[in-house]
Amino acid sequence: MKTKNIVELAIKRHDIDASWFQDQYQKNNDADFNPFQYGRTLVINELSNILSQLPSGAKILDVGSGTGHLCSWLSKQGFDVTGVEPSEEMRGFAKKNFPQLQFINAISSKIPFNENQFDLIISFEVLRYLNREENINTYNEYYRILKPKGKIFVTHVNMFASDFYYFFYYLKKPFYKLKNKVYHYCYFTTPKREENLLKKIGFSQVQSIGIMSASLRIANKLGKWYSKIHLQIINKLFKSQKFLDNPLKSMAGHLVITATK
Ligand SMILES: C[S@@+](CC[C@H](N)C(=O)[O-])C[C@H]1O[C@@H](n2cnc3c(N)ncnc32)[C@H](O)[C@@H]1O
Repeated sequence: MKTKNIVELAIKRHDIDASWFQDQYQKNNDADFNPFQYGRTLVINELSNILSQLPSGAKILDVGSGTGHLCSWLSKQGFDVTGVEPSEEMRGFAKKNFPQLQFINAISSKIPFNENQFDLIISFEVLRYLNREENINTYNEYYRILKPKGKIFVTHVNMFASDFYYFFYYLKKPFYKLKNKVYHYCYFTTPKREENLLKKIGFSQVQSIGIMSASLRIANKLGKWYSKIHLQIINKLFKSQKFLDNPLKSMAGHLVITATK
């Protein structure tokens, strides 16, 4: 598929799914274990480490800001936040949820800002919908608009995640095709591959971190009780659910990459 089509497909998919995402973000007090929210909390804890190094009022760009919940959380902590969101439906929710914040219509590889503007650029669960070429375009664009010493914090999908998502993604594809439904593109990668890409572009202090045992997603599908026990076991084995060494890092549910300009 051509890069242009993949970019359009990602936007179309999120126009369709916007209300599902809005529901997920409103469901903060869900009594049952929910790996979607659990994984997000762990990733946001990791993000907090970077935020703690920034001065109050630092300029943050949240690219693929969706319904705006992360922007709002950042703004409440005193940061100067702007959201970038190309899906009209997602942007519509964001503007309704947080009318005091700014959400602009753009894609990650073409952001309407001058050079050297931002202290931090975040893309949480966004670059996974783009292909390698568009991810390279995006990294170059982030490099351009970051201030010197500015940082990126992005997430990706591990090719070898222990929920076997790589396998299930391709298994489900023909069924979507048969039903003529929109099936999103998925960019599967590895920590080393992504680190090398960023270093080639010119980033320094490139680090990859695995977050959350992906097996929790499978356990959750097998029922409440099993899911609960599985979570207890995983928490006993890996307290922080933060994986810095391969192969566990390559098998985690979220692959976080941080780097400095
Ligand atoms: C799974 S949602 C994540 C939303 C938000 N980052 C969060 O974690 O709450 C992915 C978001 O990326 C947006 N998106 C898709 N393609 C994009 C692109 N090329 N550039 C920027 N954002 C994009 C989608 O419209 C959607 O809002």
